[in-house]
Amino acid sequence: MPDTAFSPIDPVPEIDPEFAAFGGSVKNPPAAVRVLSALLRFAFRLLYYQLAFTYDLVAWIVSAGEWADWRRCVIPFLPPGRVLEIAHGTGTLLLDMAEGGYPVTGIDLSGAMGKIARGKIRRRRKSAANSGSALFPGLVQADVNRLPFQAGAFAAATSTFPADFLFQQSAFQSVHRALRPGGVWIILPAAYPEWFAGRWLPDEKLISSGAVWRTLIRKMEAYGFRVRMEIVRRPRSRVLLIMAEKR
Ligand SMILES: C[S@@+](CC[C@H](N)C(=O)[O-])C[C@H]1O[C@@H](n2cnc3c(N)ncnc32)[C@H](O)[C@@H]1O
Repeated sequence: MPDTAFSPIDPVPEIDPEFAAFGGSVKNPPAAVRVLSALLRFAFRLLYYQLAFTYDLVAWIVSAGEWADWRRCVIPFLPPGRVLEIAHGTGTLLLDMAEGGYPVTGIDLSGAMGKIARGKIRRRRKSAANSGSALFPGLVQADVNRLPFQAGAFAAATSTFPADFLFQQSAFQSVHRALRPGGVWIILPAAYPEWFAGRWLPDEKLISSGAVWRTLIRKMEAYGFRVRMEIVRRPRSRVLLIMAEKR
């Protein structure tokens, strides 16, 4: 459902300086911060493109096997209707949502991620060939800042472990436009192992009261979302969800 009225020629979005401030002084960050941040960007770029084939293994290792379980925490919060998964990565959550009966479309900027997700969908299609009525996700290679869909096309959007687009105001505008009024953007920005959260963030409110989250909520509210946070408890971890409803 491409929308020809939607112009894909906006300038490349910048990280909102208010968020950059959490990494140090914006105008003149210490050299160590600049080097670390450049290295991290390089590593993430490799992981999303050249090394995308290692993504599932890396995610499994860094989460001690919990990544897929964390991602699935968004599913019980989905309203009925069409879902947009923003930055689907290797596509496992897309398949989980489709299996849960949701008509779902995934977008990701990385063609390498799209290729892996397409392969998973193709294999799932083959193994479900005899079952008849299964739903399968659609995939579009796109930038969240320039979503190529009609306004109001989706009842919900999800973003699990989003990249830095979470700090780009053009992403708020673009997702807000793609949602129908009352539609909800469910974001899973972080999960904490229980040993850490229980000791250092004993009060659940403390997790969501961090300066970054408060700034994010304020910004999203300025772009027409009503925002609340949820903590989902899992046996060995706590998962933070941001629920942003389009006003
Ligand atoms: C940390 S991965 C998360 C993948 C998946 N959602 C998950 O939970 O494992 C971040 C994903 O965001 C994608 N991405 C980064 N910037 C993007 C943008 N501007 N628009 C769409 N996708 C983007 C990357 O290609 C990558 O697949």
